[in-house]
Amino acid sequence: MNERRLGNLLFGREEIEERVEEVAKNISLEYENKRPVLVAILKGAVYFAVDLTRNLEIPFDLDFLALSGFKPGLLRVEIEKDTDIDLKEREVLIVEDIVDTGLTLNFLTRELEKRFPKGVKVCTFLNCPARRIVEVPVHYCCFEIPDVYVVGYGLDFQGDFRNLLEVYTLYDPSGRSTQILKQMGKGGKK
Ligand code: IMP
Repeated sequence: MNERRLGNLLFGREEIEERVEEVAKNISLEYENKRPVLVAILKGAVYFAVDLTRNLEIPFDLDFLALSGFKPGLLRVEIEKDTDIDLKEREVLIVEDIVDTGLTLNFLTRELEKRFPKGVKVCTFLNCPARRIVEVPVHYCCFEIPDVYVVGYGLDFQGDFRNLLEVYTLYDPSGRSTQILKQMGKGGKK
């Protein structure tokens, strides 16, 4: 049943592996001798955080933070599970699955600034600038994507598809995302 709800392939395993390795190399260079705290946002960023940290060549600490989604009528999210590590005077690197509207990250960076870290930067697996509502700085990004809903590699649709090793669009009866992907030279079937 799940198979039928998937659309087109956007990023395959090898492509993801290679890109995550590259980004990890850049992070290792920037944070040498700085022992950053990587704060992975539950649940979507877990898969990315595991692969990213496996490729790091520097000492680091890993922590997790969970946020509620945007509740109807409330223009903010809430922290549901906070970090265990004290972030004061630490170099913090937020690890996200996707920066879409930017609202979540905007809230989060503001919250973390109140804890007086030495620095706060953002590393996201996917970035979707076309859907941005709030401008947020993104320092490391594996892939930029157009305005399509994607699943796999930690990203879910109603809890499904997180464990896929590749990234797909959802089944697309209108042909909209298929067309967008075609323009990028992407869009093989599963
Ligand atoms: P925001 O819109 O930048 O605040 O994104 C908030 C969260 O929405 C992300 O961390 C994801 O968990 C989720 N999200 C946004 N776009 C997608 C998508 O295309 N697929 C799956 N989850 C998404």
